[in-house]
Amino acid sequence: MKAPLKKPALWQNPLSLLGLLLGLGATAFGLPMMALDIFQRHTDTYLAVVIYLVLPFVGVGGLAIVLLGMWWEHRRRLRHPDAALHLLPKLDLNRPKHQLIVVGSLLIGMVAVILFSVTGYRAYHFTESVTFCGLVCHQVMKPEYTAYQHSPHARVACVQCHVGPGAGWFVRSKLSGAYQVYAVATKSYPKPIASPVKNLRPAQETCEQCHWPAKFFGAQQKNFMRYLTDEANTPWEIQMLIKVGGGDPKVGAAGGIHWHMNIAKEIAYIASDEKREVIPWVRVTDKDGKVTEYQSTEQPLNAEQVAKGPIRRMDCVDCHNRPSHIFLPPDKAVEVSLSAGRLDHALPFVKREAIRLLTGEYATEAEAKTAIRRGLSDFYQKEYPDLATGRAAAISQSAEEVARIFSTYFFPEMHSDWRSHPNHVGHLNSDGCFRCHDGLHKSAAGNIITKDCNTCHTILAQGPPEEVAAGPLKEQPFRHPVDVGMDVTEYKCSQCHTGTGGL
Ligand code: HEC
Ligand code: HEC
Ligand code: HEC
Ligand code: HEC
Ligand code: HEC
Ligand code: HEC
Repeated sequence: MKAPLKKPALWQNPLSLLGLLLGLGATAFGLPMMALDIFQRHTDTYLAVVIYLVLPFVGVGGLAIVLLGMWWEHRRRLRHPDAALHLLPKLDLNRPKHQLIVVGSLLIGMVAVILFSVTGYRAYHFTESVTFCGLVCHQVMKPEYTAYQHSPHARVACVQCHVGPGAGWFVRSKLSGAYQVYAVATKSYPKPIASPVKNLRPAQETCEQCHWPAKFFGAQQKNFMRYLTDEANTPWEIQMLIKVGGGDPKVGAAGGIHWHMNIAKEIAYIASDEKREVIPWVRVTDKDGKVTEYQSTEQPLNAEQVAKGPIRRMDCVDCHNRPSHIFLPPDKAVEVSLSAGRLDHALPFVKREAIRLLTGEYATEAEAKTAIRRGLSDFYQKEYPDLATGRAAAISQSAEEVARIFSTYFFPEMHSDWRSHPNHVGHLNSDGCFRCHDGLHKSAAGNIITKDCNTCHTILAQGPPEEVAAGPLKEQPFRHPVDVGMDVTEYKCSQCHTGTGGL
């Protein structure tokens, strides 16, 4: 008897064939590129995006289309019963051809599994890498990525602070990551990327992988090299001992900022704004469970507002909100360059002019850099024509340095700089510690959250650098470098100091 006309296999339909083409294409294209990437020392970001994100997506998509086509073909044949004889292929392992098919399918299956594992593993590492976080969405992440590279955490991966260990947070981060990719694709992301980060993982689970408050830091001697905005850029040095502290009383010394704030007491607060800049209500629970509530006398909250909260428990990032994305304010950034000698201290008014140029209104980084380069030489041309010719090289070098400062800490396209992201460690250019330690937060019993200048640090020397160098170092009260006709310690420093040079 003549065998019935052989029917085409289920996958031999237009849709499955298209899927097959896509899948095979992606594999054929991806394999050599992956080999290239694995044996190359440095991963190229865009190549990696194609190999580990786009091609697997196309490959798996192709496979899905093949299956969809087969299902569709299966349904079609069901609807035409005359074709129902050979719905699914019959397998007869006595027939050499079928043996070949089985062995072949198993082999292909194995290769596919290996391929997917390797791709998956590489994709995992790639999406966890600093390159991925910082560069793939480079427009969006540019401010954070750039500032990060100049921070003490430049070698700590983004995910170590932003995701941390454990499967739960891994999945969460990939889900919110998927949304972020969508936001970037549709350009619906906010400018600047807002902080505080709403669902940041509690700092105990991230920072404390590497630092823990019971580790005693003692006091840290810090040197602040400041300059006035006068013609001579007069230097003013402050040396102080910051009582960082920490510790574990079971094994030895304990005290200082970390001890009071993190270990001995639990502090919680209510902020009246999204950015947590204004803190009218603070609650302290000490080790014995005694609770003290402090209210700002400037803007106390009523019982209803307190009940509404939300109450946030203070942790590392309430002080260290910029451990790695430090957007220096213009005056500090300029001072760093002055003391490193990259800005010429001998140029009159160079600090003031640099700040003026850095704080101009610019739409783009390119526009700013052009204006800065031109602006500084224009200033000397106009005000100090002799210098403009005699010290042309120093002026153009300094202008170049100011332009570099701009591209490190100022991001007009994302509206990100020290104003949108102030640093809460300290109290000079934003309220920082003085959000609570302003001397105006009182408890019912009349206690005050202290503003005493020697609580957190003691000044050991201050004045012109020659005077400081002549010593000796000894504890002394704060002396404001210029006479502004009042006792500045009665005020919040940030009332005058906004990062633009006390002006
Ligand atoms: C040392 C820990 C640490 C590392 C490393 C780190 N971040 Fe952050 N990041 C933080 C903290 C803390 C905040 C904000 C805290 C807050 O809520 O105020 C933050 C905030 C952000 C924000 C919100 C906007 C802002 O500036 O506040 C973005 C975006 C961001 N990080 C991206 C990155 C990227 C990209 C990397 C890697 C290139 C990275 N981070 C590495 C700790 C870190
Ligand atoms: C993977 C380890 C790691 C993680 C996670 C980490 N850090 Fe660090 N951190 C370091 C290292 C290493 C240094 C020392 C860098 C140096 O001395 O230059 C450091 C330094 C610091 C410093 C001192 C900076 C300075 O100017 O000297 C602070 C403050 C700090 N980290 C806070 C944090 C906070 C807050 C977090 C969590 C948001 C955090 N770190 C998460 C490794 C880490
Ligand atoms: C009340 C505010 C506050 C809190 C809360 C806080 N810190 Fe600090 N921390 C400081 C100050 C202030 C310094 C001194 C740094 C300076 O002046 O640059 C400091 C310094 C540090 C340093 C550098 C120490 C050194 O000697 O170099 C590390 C690391 C650090 N903190 C980690 C943490 C971690 C981790 C947490 C959370 C468990 C935390 N801090 C909570 C205020 C705080
Ligand atoms: C959310 C409010 C808040 C912020 C912000 C804050 N503190 Fe405090 N701080 C408190 C409270 C409340 C106390 C405890 C007062 C008490 O003992 O009843 C305290 C106590 C302290 C003490 C111990 C004071 C003493 O009399 O022994 C130190 C040191 C300290 N804080 C340092 C800092 C530093 C440094 C910063 C900024 C980096 C800072 N704090 C930011 C609320 C705050
Ligand atoms: C609640 C803790 C706290 C109190 C109270 C406090 N300071 Fe500070 N102050 C800090 C911290 C933390 C820094 C370090 C900031 C940094 O590392 O950049 C600082 C830095 C400074 C600096 C150096 C600033 C700079 O960048 O040049 C001066 C000056 C200063 N404080 C003066 C004072 C005076 C004056 C008072 C009293 C009115 C005072 N502080 C009260 C925590 C405090
Ligand atoms: C009434 C306004 C005012 C207040 C309040 C004030 N300052 Fe100043 N401060 C100035 C002026 C003006 C200068 C000189 C600016 C210049 O020439 O660069 C200055 C200069 C300084 C400098 C020298 C470096 C620089 O930025 O020029 C330091 C350090 C300083 N002040 C610390 C403080 C501290 C700490 C506080 C808070 C306790 C404070 N000031 C409060 C007005 C003020």
